[in-house]
Amino acid sequence: MSDKLSANEGIKTRSNYLRGTLAEGLQDLSTGSLSEDDQQLLKFHGTYQQDDRDIRAGRRAHKLEKAYSFMIRIRVPGGVTTPQQWIEVDRMADQFANGTIKLTTRQAYQLHGVIKSNLKRTIKEINDTAMDTIAACGDVNRNVMCNPNPYLSDVHAEVLKVSQAISDHLTPATRAYHEIWLDGEKIETSEEEVEPIYGKTYLPRKFKITVAVPPSNDVDIFANDLSFIAIVEEGQVVGYNVAVGGGLGMTHGDEKTFPRVADVIGFCRPEQVVDVAEKVVMVQRDYGDRTNRKHARFKYTIEDRGVEWVKAELNKYLGYELEDVRDFAFEDNGDRFGWVKDDKGRHHYTLFVQGGRVIDLPGYPMKTGLRRIAEIHEGDFRLTANQNLVIANISEQKRHEVEALLEEYGMAKSHDKSALRLASIACVSLPTCGLALAEAERKLPEVIEILENKLEEVGLRHDSITIRMTGCPNGCGRPFLAEIGFVGRGPGRYNLYLGGGHEGHRLNKLYRQDLDEKDILATLSPIFDHYAKEREEGERFGDFVIRTGYVSATKWGGDFHDNIKEDAYANKSS
Ligand code: HEM
Ligand code: SF4
Repeated sequence: MSDKLSANEGIKTRSNYLRGTLAEGLQDLSTGSLSEDDQQLLKFHGTYQQDDRDIRAGRRAHKLEKAYSFMIRIRVPGGVTTPQQWIEVDRMADQFANGTIKLTTRQAYQLHGVIKSNLKRTIKEINDTAMDTIAACGDVNRNVMCNPNPYLSDVHAEVLKVSQAISDHLTPATRAYHEIWLDGEKIETSEEEVEPIYGKTYLPRKFKITVAVPPSNDVDIFANDLSFIAIVEEGQVVGYNVAVGGGLGMTHGDEKTFPRVADVIGFCRPEQVVDVAEKVVMVQRDYGDRTNRKHARFKYTIEDRGVEWVKAELNKYLGYELEDVRDFAFEDNGDRFGWVKDDKGRHHYTLFVQGGRVIDLPGYPMKTGLRRIAEIHEGDFRLTANQNLVIANISEQKRHEVEALLEEYGMAKSHDKSALRLASIACVSLPTCGLALAEAERKLPEVIEILENKLEEVGLRHDSITIRMTGCPNGCGRPFLAEIGFVGRGPGRYNLYLGGGHEGHRLNKLYRQDLDEKDILATLSPIFDHYAKEREEGERFGDFVIRTGYVSATKWGGDFHDNIKEDAYANKSS
């Protein structure tokens, strides 16, 4: 392994705490783009430079610059926003972006298609609504996630506070964000400021934290660098199990890269959570691989050095020992749709949002409907980790008004769909994502339609099977934890992964490569038939395909690729 630091390390070092030449670059309107280095720094400020890939070839033919625009990711720690914030995001989507809102798999909002001349104003207006974009992307701790139903009990309220406290504590301290986007006073030298937690080169790679309350694993804790699992006794949170080292991205054909599920390594008290988060981040800051970005996530630090090493090192940084892991059990990683009433008499409605895309479609003006609801809603909106939306904390008096609007805009039966569709996730992919190899958000609904006809035929319409599609193996839609995962290989072609755990605890495995739409149905049909006939009582699809030999169980990150070595092409279904 070379000791040469990766190029991004130099960019960070030279950036003067994330300033680079962003302020100057934003003023240069002779191009819709920013310099290469600034594009990397921009991520720390919560935005990605992109271009419209649907029209890329046409513009090249006419010797035009690519159609550059920016994706802005708005952090929503714990996923909770106010109706006023919803209204503002809705307005900005129309005024500055492509007229849609994307609810992401990590409880953030995304706006797509913001052009350079509107970027600063949009970020400023986001901050005016008491939200921000700092650290939504980049080599720092990103949006902190948690179960989105705090009002269901005091436990959830406490857990939300914890996730917001972690988020605040790990937000970069640099004034660069205020200077560049909010016209904050300029600090001339970097001497006056330090990043007490990150230092000037921040982390080797992105870092993701979640907080979960069993039995729901809706935030998919095993996919994240660090998670806290609430342990509840007699209605009180007595502390949290600590899980480290999850992460999903990998590169096709490079077996040194692999997804990995987190290890649960100990237990801490509620008052220790923020300290534990800080020290775990510091361990990764100091030991993560800064020479190779494909090997820089915390999962590789742990895989290389061992879980015991991480535990021991963490205890040293903490100055005390984590306690032994407490018992816990997850049931699933999905959402519960429709109405629920909580222990305080408040109502909550979980709306299915396909692919997390809030959009007005002919016959289904969801975006307008949600804005109308936001205008009368006195509770809040909660983004789920599965790209859905909870209209939360509705009083008895308001319920009828909200119900009437849901009815008027065709959302009252949003969850009257196959259980397969309700358990689906698609990443953004084309046309905006520069890394996409195949469609995802625009393709998955069609693939599901084909599959759900088959499921209906064999009587499985109401059986929840997690199905996820991403346009590339970076894994933004968590495909490697799905019972059925599709990962783009090239235009119209997908690798099919089977055998993820329904609770989100087990990675799946490659079953077939390079399938097109026809192959997908031909491959899955006989397995659905088999499942319908021979599954055991309550047996989940992901468990069934392992028991019956379609794939072997993935037990740890390193054996994710075993099927490739063994037998990726053999027809095990016959
Ligand atoms: C090498 C690894 C990765 C890279 C380079 C990467 C890059 C990107 C890019 C460029 C986008 C923007 C797409 C768009 O909005 O047009 C994106 C979206 C996103 N990524 Fe990643 N990503 C990686 C891995 C992951 C993983 C492992 C997760 C979480 C499990 C994740 C979570 C997200 C989320 C939540 C979005 C927002 C869109 C959505 O919900 O589909 N990313 N990523
Ligand atoms: S999984 Fe790949 S294609 Fe999808 S959003 Fe992430 S980087 Fe883009």
